[in-house]
Amino acid sequence: MPAALWPFGFAFRRGRISQDAHPRGLTNPARFSARFSARCTPWGDLALNLKIRHRRLRRTETLRRMVRETHVRVDDLIFPMFVVAGSGVRSEIASMPGNFHLSVDRLAPEIDRVAQARVPAVLLFGLPENKDATGSEGYADDGVVQQAVAEIKRLAPDLCVVTDVCLCEYTSHGHCGVLSERGEVLNDPTLDLLTRMAISHAQAGADIVAPSDMMDGRVAAIRQGLDDAGLADTAIMSYAVKYASAFYGPFREAADSAPQFGDRRGYQMDPPNAREALREAATDIEEGADIIMVKPALAYLDILKSMRDSFTAPVAAYNVSGEFSMVKAAAARGWIDERRVVLETLTAIKRAGADLILTYHALDAAAWLEQ
Ligand code: PBG
Repeated sequence: MPAALWPFGFAFRRGRISQDAHPRGLTNPARFSARFSARCTPWGDLALNLKIRHRRLRRTETLRRMVRETHVRVDDLIFPMFVVAGSGVRSEIASMPGNFHLSVDRLAPEIDRVAQARVPAVLLFGLPENKDATGSEGYADDGVVQQAVAEIKRLAPDLCVVTDVCLCEYTSHGHCGVLSERGEVLNDPTLDLLTRMAISHAQAGADIVAPSDMMDGRVAAIRQGLDDAGLADTAIMSYAVKYASAFYGPFREAADSAPQFGDRRGYQMDPPNAREALREAATDIEEGADIIMVKPALAYLDILKSMRDSFTAPVAAYNVSGEFSMVKAAAARGWIDERRVVLETLTAIKRAGADLILTYHALDAAAWLEQ
């Protein structure tokens, strides 16, 4: 008989587990005789007659597979990409190994990798040729993202193309909206520019536009603008709950979007706030968001869970640049097992309630999930 089955063959007494008895660390059957029924295995090991043994269903990989509660699927993943102006550009982003600045003419091999990995969607960020105070290359019809969307749709018509809608990559000051003379980020005048950007992305062929600016009223403005432009089928994934986080550090290098003065705390959320996240998400859903996003993911799993429990809309989580770079840096030093850490991380994000995960690990993870 296999060793693991011996209790069924050899059990002969029944015992009761008392609340105050704790068998861990004790090995002498005699010490339990008052409270536990115990005996020795034919090999001389202590064996209690425990009725409940949680380890039974963890014993083999097959059993573990059968009772596994959470599954990350390739279908859940969205791969972010950085498109730059110019031609012939393919340069690795130093703080984000394996991620590249790509010009439109160099997209094809990378899109091929995405398609090969069967990852269903990409999220596009653009680095323009020139920046100005109002981020005008962001909503130019021949802007870098607009060109990239068209090219990707030509290369891989079935790939879902999501575009990040925000001014910070396109403004000379690096803020997510236009500025007043005193240097404040103006909410309402920014909405029109975001709407123009969203419409131009959608006209180029984007399936989903994803506003990440955190201006109030932007989902309503973008929905109205898309509908008026005959783009009622373009979906909105709003960065509904986006915190002013230190985990965006590597991204600001990747997107060349660090604010030139001040910070984003006047428009992105304050990390200690959880109830406010429910208000933000409720507003975006009312305004017409099809998918709501929580960002970052790992330090905000409680927020993700509350989104899942409170709303029926699909929930996305952004496993951001800092989360990615920490894993890469530790893995490069041999301090962690990258594959296991990535899959465990994605599982945690899924378990907390995400339907979709935006992650720079997407292509690696997809390959690992398929094995
Ligand atoms: C643009 C934007 C940012 C990220 C996504 N869209 C940066 C920011 O708000 O400063 C962060 C993505 C990442 O860190 O991976 N507003």
